[in-house]
Amino acid sequence: MLVTGSAILVPARAGKYGVGAFNTNNMEITQAIIHTAEKLRSPVIVQMSEGAIKYGGQDLANIVKDLANRASVPVALHLDHGSSYASALNAIRMGFTSVMIDASHHNFEDNVAETRRVVEAAHAMGISVESELGRLGGIEENIIVDEKDAFLTDPEEAVQFIEQTGTDYLAIAIGTSHGAFKGKGRPYIDQARIAKIGEMTSIPLVAHGSSGVPADIIARFRAAGGDIGEAAGIDDDDLRQACQHGIAKVNVDTDLRLASTVGIREVLHANPKEFDPRKIFGPAREVMSQVIEHKMRVLGSVGKA
Ligand code: G3H
Ligand code: 13P
Ligand code: NA
Ligand code: ZN
Repeated sequence: MLVTGSAILVPARAGKYGVGAFNTNNMEITQAIIHTAEKLRSPVIVQMSEGAIKYGGQDLANIVKDLANRASVPVALHLDHGSSYASALNAIRMGFTSVMIDASHHNFEDNVAETRRVVEAAHAMGISVESELGRLGGIEENIIVDEKDAFLTDPEEAVQFIEQTGTDYLAIAIGTSHGAFKGKGRPYIDQARIAKIGEMTSIPLVAHGSSGVPADIIARFRAAGGDIGEAAGIDDDDLRQACQHGIAKVNVDTDLRLASTVGIREVLHANPKEFDPRKIFGPAREVMSQVIEHKMRVLGSVGKA
């Protein structure tokens, strides 16, 4: 069933498990996300960025909503990185049940003001809101505290921000970054900061940039002719630990991009004569489903629906 983000994330925070928020851009991705959630009895969030809305529009939103409405598990349709009040309201008009207003690049006061405006409008329509405080980016383990504090989320500020905005869930900067190149080896995640923010707050926390960039997927990507540099993602254990301390929404896009490309590359590499789209996109959907299943097991959302 199609539900709000809060309906999924409040129980997750209370139960100390994470829920995957997977980005979709087409039917096959959407099917992989929702069908895997049903298979594993897991709640799930399907999210569309503004780029996804530009690409798939209401057609894609309707595919998500239809699958969600027919699903035997709770599914939310979320706007990822909404850049303005107008963008958030447009998504609500399209039938989204959760929206993000990302005003994290503004100063604290302007971030509060912009977020608050979206919260008031969204709540009037029964829609829940994600906002962000801090700047995403990779960090070194031994970076000096002042440098960390310059862009990672400050716990005291997080408390103030939640009070002043009424946001339903908050994305925090803890060392993750978007994309397939999150650092060398195992990227450093500031677990102490997550634990502190988790202790001082009670709303669900959100981790962006949480793809694992699995080594086996990268190896298959290369073996099938792909060219990728020093790819690195978030370690499964870092996500397990984070979900014990307040992280409830875990954003994953890159892993699905890599998985779908691996599926497509492998088919075309092994069979250059193939041109039936079902034989090309079908395996991509299967590789994505396997990656989603792994993530749901790591986050502990299996069996929670
Ligand atoms: O955080 C960004 C997501 O990976 C969405 O990316 O804006 O290219 O759709 P996109
Ligand atoms: P990844 O690039 O790690 O998949 O992060 C996606 C994300 O944060 C979407 O908002
Ligand atoms: Na988001
Ligand atoms: Zn993000």
